[in-house]
Amino acid sequence: MVRVGLLGLGDAGKHHARALKHGVVDASWTTLGARDADQANRVLVDELGVSDMRQHVVAPDELLAGGRCDALIIATPDGLHFDHARRALAAGMHVLVEKPLALEVAQAHELVALAQARDRVLQVGYQLRHHVGHERVHAQLAELVGTLRTIHVRWAWPDPAVDGWRARGHDARWWSLAALGTHAIDLALWLDGGEVVEVHALREPPAGIDRLAEVSLRFASGVLAHVSVAVTHRAQPSLVLAGDAGEVDCAGTLGARGAGTITHRANREATELGFAVEDPYLRQLRTFVARCEGSGARIDAQAATNVELLHRISPA
Ligand SMILES: NC(=O)c1ccc[n+]([C@@H]2O[C@H](COP(=O)([O-])OP(=O)(O)OC[C@H]3O[C@@H](n4cnc5c(N)ncnc54)[C@H](OP(=O)(O)O)[C@@H]3O)[C@@H](O)[C@H]2O)c1
Repeated sequence: MVRVGLLGLGDAGKHHARALKHGVVDASWTTLGARDADQANRVLVDELGVSDMRQHVVAPDELLAGGRCDALIIATPDGLHFDHARRALAAGMHVLVEKPLALEVAQAHELVALAQARDRVLQVGYQLRHHVGHERVHAQLAELVGTLRTIHVRWAWPDPAVDGWRARGHDARWWSLAALGTHAIDLALWLDGGEVVEVHALREPPAGIDRLAEVSLRFASGVLAHVSVAVTHRAQPSLVLAGDAGEVDCAGTLGARGAGTITHRANREATELGFAVEDPYLRQLRTFVARCEGSGARIDAQAATNVELLHRISPA
């Protein structure tokens, strides 16, 4: 049985808490790390319907010191991921850390090296890889589109946290790029599977914390990807993959619910691709626990690549 802990109970932490509450085989949720234990316990009971965990809520430093769980989910602000993940790995825990892995490229590599040295799992919270429909498209990509040529990801969502930590650049380096863009880049990295050889980007504003970004990537395979993200307005999120033999159009699949519609077009015919709607955070948790038990890759190597790309897109 893998004992899982959670650090942070904000927006992302609540998604993880719901998955932990649902439960997965071979894992038990043993601990929550929070700065204000009473407040955290109130959120658990009143908002999430979790039974009282008061005696299992501990201070973040206590949780990070080790001994309370085998695997830790870290859902704290971006700028804290490095310190929290480093301490958790050093204390012998497997780590599922929210995206992006770190704010600096060197930090991302240090975490990967530490996880390797300790033989611990280092997974990053790219739950869109665990969307059932996306998994189907990934598995059948060649059959659906032939040779993949282009990837387009558009995601615009008016973030209400205009005076939050991201908007202020406190414990953060990017806004639209870290809230949404890093997911889009991850999807492109996952779908192509190869190396990015060229990057072009426009950001608005051009310096400082980004609110909109348009990014073009060229992969070594010849695939071109375009990412369009914004935290200023709402637009239908979409992921479109086109190849020599067809196109896959995922509408409304980007998000936390595992929902949306996926249409396959080939030979002038459109067919809906069916999939089960299932919480991607729960599926992500299952994968994490399985990895902790020794099944599958221990480390998300592309997570460090993602930080490198964010740095190239927005070097300041
Ligand atoms: N995968 C996704 O789609 C997704 C979605 C949303 C967010 N995220 C990621 O999740 C992370 C958190 O974002 P969020 O939106 O959940 O932020 P949030 O709502 O502001 O929550 C942040 C949490 O971190 C805690 N925290 C802040 N400073 C801390 C510290 N010094 N030590 C320990 N805990 C601390 C906060 O506790 P207090 O209540 O004590 O302040 C709060 O529980 C970010 O990296 C973000 O990119 C991912």
